[in-house]
Amino acid sequence: MKHGESSLAKPLTTNEHLIRWVEKMAELTQPAAIHWVDGSQQEYDWLCDELVASGTFIRLNQEQWPGCFYARSDPRDVARVEDRTFICSLSKDNAGPTNNWIEPFEMRKKLKELFAGCMRGRTMYVLAFSMGPVGSPMSRIGVQLTDSAYVVVNMRIMTRIGLPVLAEIDRGNARVVPCVHSVGMPLAPGQKDVPWPCNNTKYIVHFPETREIWSYGSGYGGNALLGKKCLALRIASNIARDEGWMAEHMLILGVESPQGEKTYVAAAFPSACGKTNLAMMVPPDAFKGWKIMAVGDDIAWIKPDANGQLRAINPEAGFFGVAPGTSAKTNPNAMATLSRNSIFTNVALTPDGGVWWEGMTDEPPAECLDWRGQRWTPEIAKQTGAKAAHPNGRFTAPAAQCPSIDAKWEDSEGVPISAFIFGGRRSTTIPLVFQAFNWSAGVYVGATMGSETTAAATGAVGLVRRDPMAMLPFCGYHMGDYFRHWIKMQRSLSTTPRIFQVNWFRKGEDGKFLWPGFSENMRVLKWIVDRVHGRAQGKETPIGWTPYYEDLEWAGLDFSREQFEQMQEVSGSAWRKELIAHEELFIDLHDHLPPEMIDQRELLICRL
Ligand code: OXD
Ligand code: MN
Repeated sequence: MKHGESSLAKPLTTNEHLIRWVEKMAELTQPAAIHWVDGSQQEYDWLCDELVASGTFIRLNQEQWPGCFYARSDPRDVARVEDRTFICSLSKDNAGPTNNWIEPFEMRKKLKELFAGCMRGRTMYVLAFSMGPVGSPMSRIGVQLTDSAYVVVNMRIMTRIGLPVLAEIDRGNARVVPCVHSVGMPLAPGQKDVPWPCNNTKYIVHFPETREIWSYGSGYGGNALLGKKCLALRIASNIARDEGWMAEHMLILGVESPQGEKTYVAAAFPSACGKTNLAMMVPPDAFKGWKIMAVGDDIAWIKPDANGQLRAINPEAGFFGVAPGTSAKTNPNAMATLSRNSIFTNVALTPDGGVWWEGMTDEPPAECLDWRGQRWTPEIAKQTGAKAAHPNGRFTAPAAQCPSIDAKWEDSEGVPISAFIFGGRRSTTIPLVFQAFNWSAGVYVGATMGSETTAAATGAVGLVRRDPMAMLPFCGYHMGDYFRHWIKMQRSLSTTPRIFQVNWFRKGEDGKFLWPGFSENMRVLKWIVDRVHGRAQGKETPIGWTPYYEDLEWAGLDFSREQFEQMQEVSGSAWRKELIAHEELFIDLHDHLPPEMIDQRELLICRL
């Protein structure tokens, strides 16, 4: 029997408004069938079977990879498309200079053209999802209409979906964010489908005032799993500003000392800069009794509680992590998490029905099929430079399977946040760690953060771009107003989290990384926790407090004072150049820039 055959078109809600909207969208997009997603395991299994039958999925070797599937995207659909992402606020000024803007009326006209008949020959899935635990006062509900079963099964891992969410909608107290998604490849009668339908024309569109999302032409990651970047960051940042909370591109982790003291921190890093690795880190042997527990690896929703303490939830339920570089050495917890019930996209397929990617093992497989389905061997790689996995190849894995998931990861009140960490990928200038002098100085540090670009978005890789709070591609309104919101948040807090900047990626003159990173980052985290609790020393420098060599725990790591000083160097000439680079973005934002940012800049100039 096919799953839920009799209920395919029967609405699983009593909400008239939702039913009418689905009907209206079906009239526009003309799907062959409508499927209300109940979110059950049975439905998931059936959809995965269908995806295998249609060639989108390959079932992996179930002995080694139980419950796992493998997909290859169209090579033209491999990353977020920032240049095709639009914030269509009523006024251009609200979107600000860092977002693409098209006049909303004009955009709606365009969307109507694009979506007319775009689901012909396909099923439209009605996917109710909750960002955050169902029923938590901090959660938000969306309904995504999509013509991609791949999206449905990925969303089932990444969010909470189906009947419990529909029940929440039926209770009538949730405002739903409508999300319309199409891969943009209708099928004519009798036309054979392709494994990864998509369209060369892509539009990822947000209407912040009406809290709506429309996505066309892509089936990949943040372009298509609309709960993630579109709702939980771009739309949520608008909601958060209006309601006095924060939607941030941050991991959340808990540090537990051997004495049982628990300290939660949230950290913002740009895409593909190691947030998942940091969130799931295993402390080195010398840190006996210390534990790092993961709450989330990508997004944090942070709100002051009644006592003025910031509390954070992870609105997601899964990890959509970058696969290349993930290994039993770099991230054993991620490897355990993705070992079952996971979906792999754009990595390599081994002859025994397993997956592989660069960095997974020291020894590459003798041969495999690469992310395009072509034969790959280490020899071919040597000759042509071909990668087995795409650098933005991903795993989609349930957070509940993570061995180090925090006991409070689904706590509807969230966890208390004691520190914020900002970190970019910088070969020069930025030291391993420093603490900002105060909240405003910390906001300035986040606002002026730079990072070398990665493969998570289409475009050139390795160029330094300003990426304030790692939110450049995700802030759904004017970046200057976003800084203002950060500054303003302090007023609703009784204790303000301490703010730090870290840089795991500084290089020496030989071009090699100065810091080993990964589990050794625990040494830095411990100093941060000690600072938060007023236990550690700090040396005053022009940019903030830095640790003395003696302040870090060095047991088990051969790292000399000279190496440390090189890592921590605050070079006057490099920082003067850095200040000019800060100005680049500030000039664009000038008329919305809060005065505190100008003051902080002046203070920094004086100190340098
Ligand atoms: C992500 C990203 O997928 O930031 O998390 O690109
Ligand atoms: Mn991200």
